Amino acid sequence: MTPPIAVIIGALGAQGSSILSALLTSNNPRYKIRALTSNTASPEAIRLANSHPNIEVFQTDLSSPTSLLAAFTGASVIFANTVFKPDVFLTQGAAAAEELEISHGLNIVQAASKISSTLQHFIWSTLPDADGLTEGKYKIPHFQSKIPADKYLLDPENGLVNKTTFLRIGMYGSNLMRDPYKPVYVKEVGKYILTLPCSPLTLIPFIGEETPNIGLIVEAILRQPERTLGKYVLGVAEHLTAAEWASTLSNASKVEVSFSEMTLEDYEGHWGHVGTEIGLMFKFIEELQRDSYTGGLSSSLIVTPEDLGVQCLLHSTEDGLGKINWEDILG
Ligand SMILES: NC(=O)c1ccc[n+]([C@@H]2O[C@H](COP(=O)([O-])OP(=O)(O)OC[C@H]3O[C@@H](n4cnc5c(N)ncnc54)[C@H](OP(=O)(O)O)[C@@H]3O)[C@@H](O)[C@H]2O)c1
Ligand SMILES: *[C@@H]1O[C@H](CO)[C@@H](O)[C@H](O)[C@H]1NC(C)=O
Ligand SMILES: *[C@@H]1O[C@H](CO)[C@@H](O)[C@H](O)[C@H]1NC(C)=O
Repeated sequence: MTPPIAVIIGALGAQGSSILSALLTSNNPRYKIRALTSNTASPEAIRLANSHPNIEVFQTDLSSPTSLLAAFTGASVIFANTVFKPDVFLTQGAAAAEELEISHGLNIVQAASKISSTLQHFIWSTLPDADGLTEGKYKIPHFQSKIPADKYLLDPENGLVNKTTFLRIGMYGSNLMRDPYKPVYVKEVGKYILTLPCSPLTLIPFIGEETPNIGLIVEAILRQPERTLGKYVLGVAEHLTAAEWASTLSNASKVEVSFSEMTLEDYEGHWGHVGTEIGLMFKFIEELQRDSYTGGLSSSLIVTPEDLGVQCLLHSTEDGLGKINWEDILG
C-alpha cells in the first residue's frame, strides 16, 4: 500500500521543519512527505531532499494557484502557514505585506478545497482575530493577514470546515535573538534590558522550544482527528509574564537581563513601523491577558496540549533559550 502523502508548506522554516522531523519519525501512519519550498535549488533544500527517502522536496509558488494545486495533488494531509514577508514590510509597508500574506493564504485554502477526494486533514497555522475580538481597537497586520483564510475555511460552502484544525502557535522565546526584541546592554546598570510596550505582568502565551514542540503538537493533532477536526488547538506550552521572559533568558544565558516597560508611543518612536507592528501585539496581549489566544471561542472548540496528551512531552522556553549561544548574539 502506498503511504499517505503529507504536504508541509514552508518545510524549511521554523514551523515546517519542526513538523517534518516529527512526521518523519512517526510510524502511525508512516507518511510520504512532500516538503514545499519556493526554491528547490537552495543549499538547504538540496540537503533536505537528500536527507531521507520519504521526503520529496517540491518547488511551489504561493502566488500561483496552479502551482499549489500541483503540490497538493493526492495529499491526505496538509500543514499550511504563511509568512508576513519582512522584506516586503520594510520596503513597501505593513499594508502591502498584509495583502500579500492574505493572497497566499487564500490561494492555499482555495487549492485545498479542490482536492476533497483525497484530503482528510488540513492544519492551518493561524493567529487570533484581534481586530474582530476588540471591535477594531487592535489591528495587528501580521495577525489580520491570516484571518481571510480562517473565514474561507469556516464557510460550510467551501467543504473544509470539518477537515480543518486551526492551530494558534504561541510566541517563540527565540524572538529575543532579533530586533526589536533583542535585549540591549546598559552600561550604567551593568546589565541587559528587554524593553516592550506592555506591563511586566502581561501574560504571554509561549510555544516553548519551537522544535520539538510544534512537531509534537501537530503529530498529536493528526493522530486524534476525533478530538481536533473543526477545533482550535493552542500551540502553547506555558504562559510567562513579560518580566519572566527576561528572567528566563537570565537563567538560560547566565547573563543578567531585566524587563523595562515603555509606552507604545516611545516604542514606535524608537522602532518606527516595526515598533507599531510588534507594539500593538503586546498591547493586545496585555489587554486580554490569559484570553489573548482563546477570547471569543466557545470552550468546546478549544483543545490544549494537555487534552492531546502531549503537555508532559513539551520543552520549556528556558530549554530552548538554553541551546542558543547568547554570548555571540548579545555581544
Ligand atoms: N515568531 C513568533 O513568535 C511567531 C509565533 C507564532 C506564529 N508566528 C507566525 O509564524 C509564521 C512564520 O512561520 P515560521 O516561523 O515557520 O517562518 P520562518 O522560519 O521565517 O520561515 C519562513 C520561510 O522562510 C524560508 N526559510 C526559513 N528558514 C530557512 C532556511 N534556513 N533556509 C532557507 N529558507 C528558509 C522558507 O521558505 P522557502 O523555503 O520558500 O524559502 C520558510 O518557509 C508567520 O506567519 C508568523 O506570524 C510567529
Ligand atoms: C460538519 O460537521 C457538523 C457536526 O458533525 C455537521 O453538523 C455539519 O453539517 C458538517 N458541515 C459540513 C459542511 O459538512
Ligand atoms: C530562574 O531560576 C531560578 C532559580 O533556579 C528560579 O527560581 C526561577 O523561577 C527561574 N525563573 C524563571 C522565569 O523561570
